Amino acid sequence: MNPAELAPRDPAPSEGSAAPRPVGGGASATGPTVPTQPHHADVPPVDLDVDLTADPPGPLLASGTAADVYAIDDHRVLRRDRAGRDAESEAQILRHVVAHGFPAPAVHFVQGPDLVAERLHGPTLLQALTAGEVSLHDGAQILADLHRRLHEIPAPEGWNDPPSQWPHVTGGPTVVHLDLHPANVILSEARGPALIDWSNARTGTAELDVALTALIIGEVVVDAGGEYSSAARALLAAFLASTGTDLLAGLDDAAAVRAQDPSLVAGERELVPAAAALVRELVAVATPPDAETPGA
Ligand SMILES: Nc1ncnc2c1ncn2[C@@H]1O[C@H](COP(=O)(O)OP(=O)(O)OP(=O)(O)O)[C@@H](O)[C@H]1O
Ligand SMILES: [Mg+2]
Repeated sequence: MNPAELAPRDPAPSEGSAAPRPVGGGASATGPTVPTQPHHADVPPVDLDVDLTADPPGPLLASGTAADVYAIDDHRVLRRDRAGRDAESEAQILRHVVAHGFPAPAVHFVQGPDLVAERLHGPTLLQALTAGEVSLHDGAQILADLHRRLHEIPAPEGWNDPPSQWPHVTGGPTVVHLDLHPANVILSEARGPALIDWSNARTGTAELDVALTALIIGEVVVDAGGEYSSAARALLAAFLASTGTDLLAGLDDAAAVRAQDPSLVAGERELVPAAAALVRELVAVATPPDAETPGA
């Protein structure tokens, strides 16, 4: 999420606005078809014959900083990493958390940068917050709750994290998302709040993951002149009050992760130190003095 993203967005183009493409037995003769793979029990069985080489492979639902997301049909989306980054480890982590009952899209298929996953219907939490459909307090609770549930999930057995640009993130006991913010939460009609965009996910500590969320929101707060600064401050304060995690333990690493995130928009990297200072300040204000100095 970047400060600009806090601006209300136009609704995603309707699926009818792009040329419909055949789904189910409609694969072209030129491209490979996707075989049916096991999927989550909540997902209705669908025919998985999809031509991933079609251009476009379906109506474009959204274009984020890293990926284009296409609607394949009512039940599935194709998330295609534009840099061609392999989605295999993202798919493995997703399968692992979904198997543990975590609210995230079930994986249907993965091949290179293409991930075919369950389609969730509903606004993002960011859209709902900016539209006033969800209060800042409730939004903070949703973020804290997703963290809590995620960090109950142990790292997959025998798991090796994929290489990353973050040398200081050296694994840990639980699954971490490392990009858990309101634009990556879909308020799914069927599933409730669900977490998308697992491209940064790996193993790590809850403290790091929670600190990253605080930092991302903090960047919006300290973005001078940002229209959503005061709402973001209230969201951050509510999030800090809702999370039971000692995020200060992960804040320095979180700031390093943010500073090295290639998806940051121009000017956002410069906000990281001020955002970290703000988070420290708010945690200190919220911490009773005798909790800081035992015996005082
Ligand atoms: N499983 C899904 N079901 C429905 N819509 C989805 C799904 N996954 C992604 N989207 C849509 O695509 C958008 C972009 O997805 P995603 O966050 O994975 O890509 P991204 O390139 O990392 O985006 P950003 O840089 O904005 O975070 C989402 O905001 C959402 O609107
Ligand atoms: Mg995203």
